Amino acid sequence: MSETEATTAYALMGGQETVDRLVDRFYDRMEALPEGAVVRAMHPGDLTAIRTLLKKYMGEWLGGPKRYTSERGHPMLRARHLPFPIGNAERDAWMLCMNGALDETVSHVEVREHVRAALANLAGWMRNLPAEEPTV
Ligand code: HEM
Repeated sequence: MSETEATTAYALMGGQETVDRLVDRFYDRMEALPEGAVVRAMHPGDLTAIRTLLKKYMGEWLGGPKRYTSERGHPMLRARHLPFPIGNAERDAWMLCMNGALDETVSHVEVREHVRAALANLAGWMRNLPAEEPTV
């Protein structure tokens, strides 16, 4: 998301507190929903570390403090996902969990829908199965 926006999505949705709730509800869904199982299986048994990391990444991506890059360097998000086979099914499972979490945590409608569309785009970009790679 652009850092040059005068008011960031981060600020409009309620800052880090909302981002933290969004990420927690996202992984809660991944753990609980049968539709999330395909993506859950790619992750380690304990999700504590990735919960913290995604909170930092999402906060920064939405326009908040750079807590992810200060720790991990350039995101290189697509490269970091290459070890995991991601196609349409995995993208859809990831987005299903994220859509529910967004509905539950972000009350500002315009911001929520803007973030949802941007995340759907990003999730599509993460696909790396030969037949289902994004076209540039
Ligand atoms: C499209 C489906 C996606 C799948 C199946 C997926 C799966 C994964 C997996 C398995 C990991 C490793 C977790 C670990 O080692 O504990 C990971 C890491 C991560 N994912 Fe995703 N992911 C997807 C999309 C996304 C999207 C759209 C974002 C951004 C909003 C994202 C952000 C991250 C971040 C920040 C990390 C940690 C990277 C690091 O090591 O610094 N992922 N993902």
